[in-house]
Parts: sequence; C-alpha cells; structure tokens
Amino acid sequence: MTIKIAILAGDGIGPETIGQAVKVLEVLRDQHGLGLELEHAPVGGSAYDQAGTPLPESTLALARQADCILLGAVGGPKWDTLERNVRPEKALLQLRAELGLFSNLRPAMLFPQLASASTLRAEVVAGLDLMIVRELTGGIYFGKPRGIRSLDDGQRQGYDTLLYSESEIERIARVGFDIARKRDRRLCSVDKANVLETSVLWREIVSHVGKQYPDVTLSHMYVDNAAMQLVRAPKQFDVIVTDNMFGDILSDAAAMLTGSIGMLPSASLDASGKGMYEPIHGSAPDIAGQDIANPLATILSVAMLLRYTANQAELASLVDRAIARVLDDGLRTADIYTGTGRKVGTREMGEAVVSALKSVS
Ligand code: IPM
Ligand code: MG
Repeated sequence: MTIKIAILAGDGIGPETIGQAVKVLEVLRDQHGLGLELEHAPVGGSAYDQAGTPLPESTLALARQADCILLGAVGGPKWDTLERNVRPEKALLQLRAELGLFSNLRPAMLFPQLASASTLRAEVVAGLDLMIVRELTGGIYFGKPRGIRSLDDGQRQGYDTLLYSESEIERIARVGFDIARKRDRRLCSVDKANVLETSVLWREIVSHVGKQYPDVTLSHMYVDNAAMQLVRAPKQFDVIVTDNMFGDILSDAAAMLTGSIGMLPSASLDASGKGMYEPIHGSAPDIAGQDIANPLATILSVAMLLRYTANQAELASLVDRAIARVLDDGLRTADIYTGTGRKVGTREMGEAVVSALKSVS
C-alpha cells in the first residue's frame, strides 16, 4: 500500500522542521519499505504572498485527495494586519472544517530524558503521559452569528456564538472513550457546566455515552479547575475530552508540562481516520530561518501519522525509539537544553534521528 501525503510546510519554522520530517519519511521509504508518495503545496502566509489566499484551491484539492496531510505551521507578524478572512490561521480553520477533522488528539508525554527541562519540579511531571481530545470543528470557533456590530449608543460590540449539537458532542465523546479504552481507561470530561448551557448538554451527553463504556471510569471537571490541576498534579489525568476553545487553552498548558512545546505532535482526524498531522508549536517567527527550531514535534507528528492513518504501528515505534536514542545521546535543541548534553540545531537534530533510524530495528 502506498500512502499519499500532502506536505504543507507553511510559514516561519514550518519549512525547516518539515524538511527534517521529510528526511525521516524518506528513510522509512528507502530502508523500511514504506510505500510513500509526497506532494508539496503552499499554505498560510506564504500561500497568501504567492496566490492572494492562505488556502489556494489547488492546496485544498490536494489535501482532499491525499490520504493525509503533514503540516508545518502557519502565521507570522508579516500577515497579522491582513483582514481576518485571508489571515494564515484561516487556512487551518478552513482545512479543519472542509475536511471534517473534528477530533484533535494532543498527547502530552514527557520523555524521561527531559524531566529537568520542565518548569515544574521533575517529580511532578516524571512519567507524565496524558492525551487531550479536543473537539475541533464546532463550538465558539465556528458558531454563527459572530461579528462586530454598532450599538444604538454609538459604541461597537463584539459577539461570538457557542453552539454544540448532541451529535457533535456524542461523536467526540466516543473518540475520548475509545482512546481511554486503549490506555488507562480513565476519561475526564472538561466543561463549564456551572455557567454555560452548552456545557450542561455536553455533560449530559458525555455521561450518556459513558454508559456504553462501563470499563472506562468517567469523571467531570470544570475547566478552571482543570487548568489548575494540570499544573498542580498533571499525572492524575489519563485522557481529557473537551470542547474546541477549552482544548485550545488546556493543550498549550499541558504542552509546557513536558518541558517544551517543541516536543508535541498532534493529529486531527475525521470520522474515517483520515487526518492532518502537525506539531502544536506554531510558526515561531522569532526564530525562523536560524536553524535552531526543534524538529522533534514534527517528526513525532510523522509517528502519529504512521499510527493513525498508515496503520504502521511498528514503523511509528521505530521513530519513537530513534528519538529516544538521540535524546539518550544528549542531543538537545535550544528549547530543551538545560546545560548538559550537546546543543544542536534543527538540521543536526533531524540528521541524528535519521541516522538513529538507520541503526535501530
Ligand atoms: C491551535 C492554534 C489554532 C487554534 C490557531 C492558530 C487558529 O492555536 O491549533 O491550537 O486556535 O486552534
Ligand atoms: Mg492553540
């Protein structure tokens, strides 16, 4: 089987980290028998510069037709003053919506080698392994009406709408339960049911779905408490399922527990497992083009791609082991460097993973 991947490198550090991930894919093709077809297309601010839109028709067409997408990052100060509809971030939101990528998996896993890179005490985070399941195509990100209107008293008022239907809640709840089933069988649903109507329905539906998963222990937590618990005692969590905006916020917090947002991959999947894979760190324009960005989150996104779309669990764990090897060897990009080991750049880190891949089996 040949897997066709749309490579959307995007902006900022995207092209640099994607460059390393592509090398990893090529080694898997050349030495480990992975059937692979790669096609590149522009996205984000760089696509806007070329084509006047952050998501050209041809890029969307490729994304639809490929088996999955590997995306670097989009955005940067250069495009921050553009009108919202052509901003780089719009491409991401559109890809999510157009491809129906409603389920966003954001694992936060601490590599034992990096316990000292976290801003939290090592004993609080050592062994951390949690998964945030974020609803990605609904909620306040997409609800209508939204806008900025003029009031009778002459001032303007901004408004957004938070909407969740039963079926939207049910399908993301199922993803959460199914994943919990493959892990430690604990699911924490995060909401704001003490204030929001949507959350009252959310809690009801998640509890209802939970009846079909008697083997999974379900708990509920308010989002403010969840934010606190994530930094107080993050190891209490196994799987968290939550809505679009809460998931956006909590996943950044969870990322930092692991020492660096530069280590975290993500998968955004549709109902059939087709997906878009991307590091969660964004375009980091301040360090773009300097060969200092950490490519490991993008390479770990390749591992997720192998697991969830390509059905190549063995190759995925091969990539995981190659990364562990490189960390064991003491290689550190600046974001995970704590004074010991050897500080390396983007390319050297990527090349180290590639040569580890050639030797691990
Ligand atoms: C993320 C990002 C995006 C989001 C932005 C860039 C639109 O923060 O993927 O978490 O808010 O979903
Ligand atoms: Mg975010």
